[in-house]
Amino acid sequence: LIQVKLQVVNGSEIYKNEMLKYPVLLGDHAWIVIEKFLQELPGYESIFILTDHHTRDLCLPVLFRKAPFLRERPVYSIPPGESSKELRIVEGLLMWLINSGAMKNSLLVNLGGGVVSDIGGFAAATLKRGISYVNIPTSLIGQADAAIGGKTGVNISGIKNQVGVFYDPLAVFILPEFLVTLPERHVMSGNAEIIKSAVLAGGTNWEILKKANLRERSTLPGLIKNTVDFKCSVVARDPLENHERKMLNFGHTIGHALESFSNENGKEGLLHGEAVAAGMICEAFISTETCGLPANVTDEITRIILDNSRLEKLDAGFIDYFHVLMDHDKKMTPAGVGFSLIENPGMPCLEKIVSRKTIRDSFLFYNKTM
Ligand SMILES: NC(=O)c1ccc[n+]([C@@H]2O[C@H](COP(=O)([O-])OP(=O)(O)OC[C@H]3O[C@@H](n4cnc5c(N)ncnc54)[C@H](O)[C@@H]3O)[C@@H](O)[C@H]2O)c1
Repeated sequence: LIQVKLQVVNGSEIYKNEMLKYPVLLGDHAWIVIEKFLQELPGYESIFILTDHHTRDLCLPVLFRKAPFLRERPVYSIPPGESSKELRIVEGLLMWLINSGAMKNSLLVNLGGGVVSDIGGFAAATLKRGISYVNIPTSLIGQADAAIGGKTGVNISGIKNQVGVFYDPLAVFILPEFLVTLPERHVMSGNAEIIKSAVLAGGTNWEILKKANLRERSTLPGLIKNTVDFKCSVVARDPLENHERKMLNFGHTIGHALESFSNENGKEGLLHGEAVAAGMICEAFISTETCGLPANVTDEITRIILDNSRLEKLDAGFIDYFHVLMDHDKKMTPAGVGFSLIENPGMPCLEKIVSRKTIRDSFLFYNKTM
């Protein structure tokens, strides 16, 4: 069921999803609404902009050209990449905001990928017990996933998203034209969240994905739209991840452990989407063992992921070490980690406790596909 509505503003097409408490606007013409939305916000004394160094150089000039009223606003830029998702970076941002005169009624504009929206959202949630923010995602992961749903936070000691809060933006503006400068490796990393969403949505989204050529960039806006639509529908029904939203963690239990392991001690390891792609192959195998996902569907999911991701064999060190990392997983219960699996595309199988042997077998399955 497509919930994204097409609106025509000044003759330009913009999609608007209104399922959440805040609007999610999508389309290269969304510029028109950004300006109008921000200028009509009541009582905003000051607007600040957060970027990373890449989006400062490549995306900020585009933002200034299209939304000139933002040109005079102060900009804070953080080093790019996962290593910036740390409390010390949030502290630096908070100090800058305070020293620049941010007030309770200030607004933060997060212009960047998932790291910028996770960090900026977290800083906005905590500054003066909460200031407002909007997300303008510029990476594929940001546009298809991270900017929506109000999850914000940082890693602690390299362990993913250990500290964070749910804190909604005032709006999300998704402009696929930003993806023009996104390096290919990051586009491929973003494919993982698009594939995950189609598997979880099932039905038409899954059929469309199976036929899509993800390497053709012109297919991305349509796939982003379906992915956003699905995420909004899930988050609307379960904003705080008490039940249904847990499905969005498919591939992430192993994916997060793998991401933390590969980036340990400041190593330049796997990107988030690469780790999730590998995690989904393992968790599709586990779904077959545990939830009855037909083996031919596991093979189909695996093939689509392999065709559209940059993956390597699992490091032997990870296979031995993953249990320690998983003990820190947020989904941990006294009985073990609750996996978010699938029975079939469109049919989640949640909170499954999986034996260590099955997890280990899934790594062997993954390595055999390489
Ligand atoms: N909060 C959520 O719901 C949620 C969901 C999914 C992922 N995440 C988080 O998001 C992060 C991954 O997101 P990501 O892949 O966007 O990471 P990222 O923010 O590090 O961006 C990836 C890289 O692309 C660059 N970049 C971004 N936009 C660009 C553009 N238009 N042109 C050129 N370069 C550009 C960035 O500078 C960075 O180097 C992870 O930390 C993950 O945990 C959060």
